[in-house]
Amino acid sequence: MSKITLHDKTFKPFIPQAKIEEAIRKVADELNRDFADSKEPPVFLCVLNDAIVFTGELLKHTHFNSELVSIKLSSYQGTRSTGTVLNILGLTAPVKGKDVIICEDIVDTGNTIVALKELLLSEGAKSVRICTMLLKPEVYKKPEKLDYVGMEIPNAFIVGYGLDYNELGRNYSDIYVIDE
Ligand code: IMP
Repeated sequence: MSKITLHDKTFKPFIPQAKIEEAIRKVADELNRDFADSKEPPVFLCVLNDAIVFTGELLKHTHFNSELVSIKLSSYQGTRSTGTVLNILGLTAPVKGKDVIICEDIVDTGNTIVALKELLLSEGAKSVRICTMLLKPEVYKKPEKLDYVGMEIPNAFIVGYGLDYNELGRNYSDIYVIDE
């Protein structure tokens, strides 16, 4: 793994694909345990675009019936959170009466998942659980419980495995951290 350049910034190797996918399989095992006996198929809610790769990998390792719905939100510009979560595209299907599992790539300030949980409950979701591939615990200070967390990382800007820097870098299978 060598360094990569995206726009004006350089990123160095940080988490190899094998380690990320081990963390995702751990989350899938927890979901398999919790949803094995559910009467109604839960809905996986993929938060576009960043969580596409994570959600795809996670679904491959779950063994219960489920539906897939997507939503597009955004709070990031460049390498910083703007603090305001924008609902850009609505939900691709209704979630009324459904058990929803939010699939996030990374929880940073938590503004996105808190806004999203409120939105889903206002849309009539029966229950909402939060599932994230990565968490920055030094930044996340919200009381909201994170039900499933793949891996904790330090507070640094990362790309790869679906995550971008101004739309570039999503295609890398490994995760890279900004080289400052
Ligand atoms: P939050 O609302 O501050 O928790 O931010 C969550 C969203 O910000 C994630 O879904 C990502 O899209 C984006 N984000 C947060 N940290 C990073 C990062 O290190 N790299 C790329 N995107 C990030």
